[in-house]
Amino acid sequence: MGSKYTILPFLYRHLAPLPFRTVLDGFSGSGAVSYLLKAMDKQVTSNDFMRFSYCTAEAAVANSRVRVSVRDMTALMRPNPNADDFITRTFEGLYFTTAENQFLDNVTANIRAMTDTRKQALAYAAIARACLRKRPRGLFTYTGDRYLDGRPDLVLSLEDHFVKAVDVFNAAVFANGQQCRALNQDTFEIEPGYDLVYFDPPYVSALSDNDYIRRYHFVEGLTRYWEGVEILEHTMTKKFKRYPSPFDSRRTVIEAFERLFERFQGSIIAVSWSSNGIPSRDELAELLGQYKANVVVHEVDHRYSSGTHAHAVGANQNRVQEYLFIGSDT
Ligand SMILES: C[S@@+](CC[C@H](N)C(=O)[O-])C[C@H]1O[C@@H](n2cnc3c(N)ncnc32)[C@H](O)[C@@H]1O
Repeated sequence: MGSKYTILPFLYRHLAPLPFRTVLDGFSGSGAVSYLLKAMDKQVTSNDFMRFSYCTAEAAVANSRVRVSVRDMTALMRPNPNADDFITRTFEGLYFTTAENQFLDNVTANIRAMTDTRKQALAYAAIARACLRKRPRGLFTYTGDRYLDGRPDLVLSLEDHFVKAVDVFNAAVFANGQQCRALNQDTFEIEPGYDLVYFDPPYVSALSDNDYIRRYHFVEGLTRYWEGVEILEHTMTKKFKRYPSPFDSRRTVIEAFERLFERFQGSIIAVSWSSNGIPSRDELAELLGQYKANVVVHEVDHRYSSGTHAHAVGANQNRVQEYLFIGSDT
């Protein structure tokens, strides 16, 4: 949800001419923009407070050489006598079959035992991707088998998805000659000092919620084995509470932007935002203008393919303008 994958060429076009080497992607999500910046040979710091986003960035952005080998895969698939049965017990009948849940309990026990943290992140990113692919619509907002449509992704076993996903991540590993890194923090706590910061926070909208945990709680839980989160037992989906962010509500979003802009005032500030979002284009440009002398807004048509509002409001309103604000001192 909210991935900028389809508008990477637009972002590239407007970011490439800017003078920067070090860059923070403060809300990295799928990691698509961080990966673009890495391919542009920038020194990338990729951050997201969701653990599964962090694992993806650690595997594909920070990592410049480590891959999960065939031998590692054999070890990951081996029965682990110390494996817990948390997933099998907790998610019985909800998303995957009992055998698939047992596979997940076992493989995560093996991932947790890995000593190379980069390999571990790659394996976590791959198992999260496997679960998302195997799940109809890639969502954990509903339980059961609705939306099964015979798509090849749904027919392939979870094990095969995992093997494929490891191949995908292995193939994505490359070095760009810079020390890139991944963080798993609240963006408001990151030390400033980058040439450029790119912010793509969840946008507040009248049309849809922006609750990433509601959609992805299962893979987020998996990559931390549900440590430090409390499952809401009364929910059908067995989700847990969203991580609080000031971008969650229209009451706090303006102040959130102000705090971010003030903290990172010394950098070129690039912000992705949508015409569906609150505040509006003009309000956000004015806000950024209080911190940066020169503000330019680029825009492109964008159609969201994911998220629930597509069904609620009809296909046309799913079309939005996607903005890229660039605030600089010159
Ligand atoms: C619109 S998505 C980013 C999408 C990303 N640019 C991509 O192309 O996939 C927003 C992200 O912000 C993260 N997020 C929200 N509040 C945050 C905070 N205070 N600190 C760090 N990450 C946060 C969410 O977990 C989510 O992944």
